[in-house]
Amino acid sequence: MYKKIFLISVLFAVVLFTACKSEEGKEGDKQETKVGGTALRNGDLFSEDIDLGDKAIVDANAPGQNEMGERAFENAPPTIPHKTDGFFPITQKNNACLTCHLPSVAKAMGATPMAPSHFVNYRPEIKKVGGKVKAYSDDNKSNSTTAKDLGENLNKARYNCEQCHVTQTNATLDVKNNFKAEFRNENAKKKSNLKDVITEGVK
Ligand code: HEC
Ligand code: HEC
Repeated sequence: MYKKIFLISVLFAVVLFTACKSEEGKEGDKQETKVGGTALRNGDLFSEDIDLGDKAIVDANAPGQNEMGERAFENAPPTIPHKTDGFFPITQKNNACLTCHLPSVAKAMGATPMAPSHFVNYRPEIKKVGGKVKAYSDDNKSNSTTAKDLGENLNKARYNCEQCHVTQTNATLDVKNNFKAEFRNENAKKKSNLKDVITEGVK
C-alpha cells in the first residue's frame, strides 16, 4: 500500500517537474531565436530593429517604361513590372489597377488587358437541398464544373489584384529554386490563356 502511494507521488512529482520545465522552455525558445542562423532572418524575431541585409527593393519605373517579365510557369499570374507607388490601398470604391488594366482601356494605356478568366465566375452556387449543402453549376447538375460568363463585369473575387500579382523586386534567392517551368509554346511565356484551357483534363 505504502509502495503504491510512493509510486503515485513520484509520478505526480515527475509530471509537475515536466510542466514547470515546459514553462521554462518558452523563455528558452525566445533566447534561441536571438542567436539566428536558423532562418533567412538573421536576428531577433521579437524586434524590427535589426539589419535585414539584402532588402527586396522595387527596382522599376512608373508604368509604361518597363520590360515585361517572363511567366513563372504556364498561366502563372504575371508579376507587376512597374512601380505601384500611390496605387494602394485598393478599396471598395477605388482600384487604381483597373484604370489601366480593364480591357476597355488597357490598349490606350499601353497595358496588358486583364485576362479573360477574370470575367468569369468559376464558383458554383451553393444550395441547401433536403438538409444537405450542395454545389450547383449553371446547368443545375449537382457536382459538375461551372463557368458563368460575366460579360464586361469583373469577377469581384479578383478585385484584390495583389492577392495574386506581386511586384517584381531585385531580391536574391537565399534558398536555391530548382523548379523549372515547362511551356508548351513560346507564346505561353508572355501570355496567358487559362480561360481556354481550364477544362483540360476535366472534360
Ligand atoms: C497608369 C497605368 C497603370 C496602373 C495604374 C497600373 N498598371 Fe500595371 N501595367 C501598366 C503598363 C503600361 C504595363 C506594361 C509594363 C510597363 O511598361 O510598365 C503594366 C504591366 C502590368 C503587369 C504585367 C503584365 C504582363 O503581361 O506581364 C501586371 C501583372 C500589372 N501591370 C498589374 C498591375 C496591378 C496589380 C496594378 C495595381 C496595383 C497596376 N498594374 C496598376 C499600366 C498600369
Ligand atoms: C485569384 C488570383 C488573381 C487575382 C485576384 C487577379 N489575378 Fe490577374 N491573373 C491571375 C492568373 C492566374 C493569371 C494568368 C492566367 C489566366 O488567368 O489567364 C492572371 C493574368 C493577368 C494578366 C495578364 C493577361 C494576359 O493576357 O496574359 C493581367 C494583366 C492581370 N491578370 C491583371 C489583374 C488585375 C489588374 C487584377 C485586379 C483587378 C487581377 N489581375 C487580379 C490571377 C489573379
